[in-house]
Amino acid sequence: MAIPEEIINEIKYRNDIESVMAPYVALKRRGKNLVGLCPFHNEKTPSFTVYPENGSFYCFGCGVGGDVFSFVRQIENLDYIDAVKLLAERSGITLPQDGYDDSMQKLKNTIFEINRETARFYHSYLMSPEGKWALDYLIGRGLSIATIKHFGLGAAPDGWDNLIKHLKSKGYGIPDMIQANVVGKSQRGTYYDRFRKRVMFPIINIRGKVIGFSGRAMPGEDKAGGKYVNTSDTPVYKKSENLFAMNYAKNHCDERVILVEGNMDVISLHQAGFPNTVAALGTSFTEEQAKLLSRYTKEIVLIMDSDAAGQKAVRRAGEILQNTGLQIRVVVLPDGKDPDEYIKKHGAARFKALLQGAVSEIEYKLLTAVEGIDTNSDDGKLQYLSRATEIIAESSDVMTRDLYIGRLSDKYGVSRAALETKVSDIRKRKIKQREKREFEEITRPKFDRTDVNPEKRLYPAGAVAEETIIAILMQHPDFYKTAIERLSPDDMLTSLNRRIYKALCECMESGRSPDLTYFGEMLTSPEMGYLASLCNSEKGDKNALIVLKDSIKVILDEGIHKKSGDTKTMSVDDWAENLQKIIELKQKGK
Ligand code: CTP
Ligand code: MN
Repeated sequence: MAIPEEIINEIKYRNDIESVMAPYVALKRRGKNLVGLCPFHNEKTPSFTVYPENGSFYCFGCGVGGDVFSFVRQIENLDYIDAVKLLAERSGITLPQDGYDDSMQKLKNTIFEINRETARFYHSYLMSPEGKWALDYLIGRGLSIATIKHFGLGAAPDGWDNLIKHLKSKGYGIPDMIQANVVGKSQRGTYYDRFRKRVMFPIINIRGKVIGFSGRAMPGEDKAGGKYVNTSDTPVYKKSENLFAMNYAKNHCDERVILVEGNMDVISLHQAGFPNTVAALGTSFTEEQAKLLSRYTKEIVLIMDSDAAGQKAVRRAGEILQNTGLQIRVVVLPDGKDPDEYIKKHGAARFKALLQGAVSEIEYKLLTAVEGIDTNSDDGKLQYLSRATEIIAESSDVMTRDLYIGRLSDKYGVSRAALETKVSDIRKRKIKQREKREFEEITRPKFDRTDVNPEKRLYPAGAVAEETIIAILMQHPDFYKTAIERLSPDDMLTSLNRRIYKALCECMESGRSPDLTYFGEMLTSPEMGYLASLCNSEKGDKNALIVLKDSIKVILDEGIHKKSGDTKTMSVDDWAENLQKIIELKQKGK
């Protein structure tokens, strides 16, 4: 029985790799990844790495790796199908016996319908006499009826099953309501409305469809369930990939997008004439969100509260946005207010002035670095200058560095030359540190992978080139055309890589992007570990397209030399003999 890809993906989606691993491995965050002591071999320093970004893992110590299915398969000692079944059960998905080909698409459509119907229900309740408590609240916070309608705001009535009853009357079933995450199931097995007595904000994607909700409790009533209850990820909603109000902002953001923390801030700013405002739906800003923005705009103005959490958010967003080519500027709100409060108190004109005074990221860091330091004393001055030069040294642009060195020199009466020497020393130290890291990376014990791919001994250079190609295509599927125009699967030298490349081509030809899960049924566990290491390798980080073309040449060149003994058509005995010869030749050559 082959389980349809859609269902596999759905199961994967609902089984976040971190939480599946939690009972077996203690993981700690390291940069954007997680590390821990490998549960598959004995070790004292962690080399087991989890990459939440693509839902994969890899152990640098023992080579085990793969996706969430591979993990369960190996840790529970199951075959592939049983691992899939176990995770399906864990996430409450029933695997139908047959006839479920387009069930995922159907489910998504049903969820969209349920969401739209739910939004309507909340909106008309808000506008009805019963919803007066909520309407009063929103109007009390300064929203106009036009704004309330524009955002389709609503209110969820108090009570456990108002929505359930309504959706039932429209013909929807409980399981679909649960999939849409508007209804929950209690431990006792009863069903209940997830949003009760809350002001409701529908979340609408850029195609105008309701994909989820955010529900705010009334002031003083946020004990049960917290201030906000949000839709969890569903087949139509992934919060890390969406932004609140992007459906409107996308038409007003050629120049810049204003990124704020809260939904209420967004609504307030839209109403005050800043329709290019979005918020990150209660997550810290993610790479997917940055990508989405970079499709629509050139610059992001971050407006964060001036508290510690706000500063952390600025730093994080800065790191993420660095790789997108988007300009980033920061507005620090005086007196710790959020944008909603600020604009109500000071008006749109002053807010606009604040936007114009938004500072660059580096300027922002220089401004905040002064905190806790008394720059009137010599000691304090030196302390600040030492922090500030560290910040300036981070910039890779010589003119930027020069500009800020000039400012520091003027402001603190230190010579330019001294500051320049300091910054350049820091940069030298940083470069050395980086080189050391890279060296450690290279010299870290790795296996040559002849265990999974014995033919690698026959084609030492070619096999590495093959690995590079696979790594690049897994990470940049858009280079597929370049690859297939030059290299057909039959050109691959080693049979394992040929098999992987062939499957990769089939996947791309059918218009999908390959991930580890795509190979789930086809590869053994060690082969999966091998592919996971390629997926997360840095082979494709720099100049991927050039490296790809060069690697193809290496394979084609080595392919010409192998004509004398073609391993593909060889019997196993001949192949082994050939292998022995080559090993002997190599040893002689030493
Ligand atoms: N948030 C959340 N869950 C919480 C608290 C906050 O998801 N328990 C998210 C919401 O998306 C919220 C954002 O984080 O909009 C910012 O939180 P906060 O500043 O507390 O809320 P505001 O939107 O400013 O709400 P209000 O002005 O009504 O207090
Ligand atoms: Mn607020």
